[in-house]
Amino acid sequence: MSSKVKKKILKLKESSTLVINEKSKELISKGKKVFQFGFGQSPFPVPEKIVDTLKKNAYRKEYLPIQGLPELREKISKYLFKRTGNDYPKENILITPGSKEAMLLIHIAFNGEIIIPAPGWVSYEPQAEIGTNKVHWLETNRLNNWFPTGKALEKKIKSIGKNKNIILILNSPNNPSGTVCNNLEELAKIAKKFKILVLSDEIYTDLTFSNEYESISKYYPELTFITGGLSKWCGAGGWRLGFLAVPKKLKEFLKSLKSLASESYSTVNTPTQFASVEAYANDHEQYKFKVKAILKAVGNFVYNNLKSNKVLIAPPQGAFYLMPEFKNRKYNSSSKLCEAILNETGVALLPGSDFGFKPKKMITRLSYTDFDGNAFYKNITNCGLIDDDMIKKFAPNVVEGVFRLSNWAKNL
Ligand SMILES: Cc1ncc(COP(=O)(O)O)c(C=O)c1O
Repeated sequence: MSSKVKKKILKLKESSTLVINEKSKELISKGKKVFQFGFGQSPFPVPEKIVDTLKKNAYRKEYLPIQGLPELREKISKYLFKRTGNDYPKENILITPGSKEAMLLIHIAFNGEIIIPAPGWVSYEPQAEIGTNKVHWLETNRLNNWFPTGKALEKKIKSIGKNKNIILILNSPNNPSGTVCNNLEELAKIAKKFKILVLSDEIYTDLTFSNEYESISKYYPELTFITGGLSKWCGAGGWRLGFLAVPKKLKEFLKSLKSLASESYSTVNTPTQFASVEAYANDHEQYKFKVKAILKAVGNFVYNNLKSNKVLIAPPQGAFYLMPEFKNRKYNSSSKLCEAILNETGVALLPGSDFGFKPKKMITRLSYTDFDGNAFYKNITNCGLIDDDMIKKFAPNVVEGVFRLSNWAKNL
């Protein structure tokens, strides 16, 4: 008898993020200490005012419009205008259960091929496969801050075929590299030249340490989708509140996305949408300032104590990731390397092969969020000064994990 599950779905592998988490749990249950550098979740509390608004709206039970609460879409439209200078009117914004779902809907609707710069987030490729869109990985390197050059993008587009429908996915600050794209204008020029679509995943953009909100839509608004939401800057991943801004030109796309939303999740839960009006009604400057100050300090601590002639890393510029590359010939794949590191040091990392790198490249993703964000947040002053003693006090697991890892790397 044939399989009851479609072949293309059977082929999807379980995200390694979850696998490493399971392995870590297993070690913990055996009494081993594990440094959770594999799982990327904001450690900070959701701002109090937003939590209070959620509480006040918990009684609401009615369905909201498929596209989302108009007042929330209006606020997001203003938020994007302030950051990108572009008008994505509220009619072109969809509220989605996380930005991940927004991206999935794009893949389902889209008829064409997808360019994903490597490194790229673990879900981009499986989502494209679900949407039966062919994936083309685009290699990048440390010299260009782990983003594609204009030249490489042009070459890739030409190799796919100029007349194909193409979406380029861009994510800056980037998961897994923690770096920021500094050639957006150049990439926009190429995108414009070939009229390809861009999906700008801006889920971490409010966590840019330089405080500059850079979006490729500044240079190419006409065909750039933007996705974002509360999961990272606001620490509310479990609330599942994301958004998608569709360029005004793409009317057919917008209509199809609304149909897909209506036939799948209907609408995002009502209390969260009301609370999110508060999240997008003002800038939450003080909160973001403190959160970024902590992440930047902890990221730099890890960077300074780990980089060596055996471990190459680009400095942290945003989000909460670093991408250490281990110089060695001992292991034949990055997943074997991560397994050895977990067994020998207790540090859980993710292999670079899950982010589009060739398995032989000894690169890993390190998430530096294994600390009590609530305690850290409460104990820093408004001027955001954080020294190593504070890091040792409030992020002891990060400190110990990094020392174990750097000692381990010395023997490579
Ligand atoms: C690069 C990137 N994009 C999108 C998401 C999805 O975020 P959410 O669906 O919670 O909005 C994540 C979450 O880990 C991510 O790392």
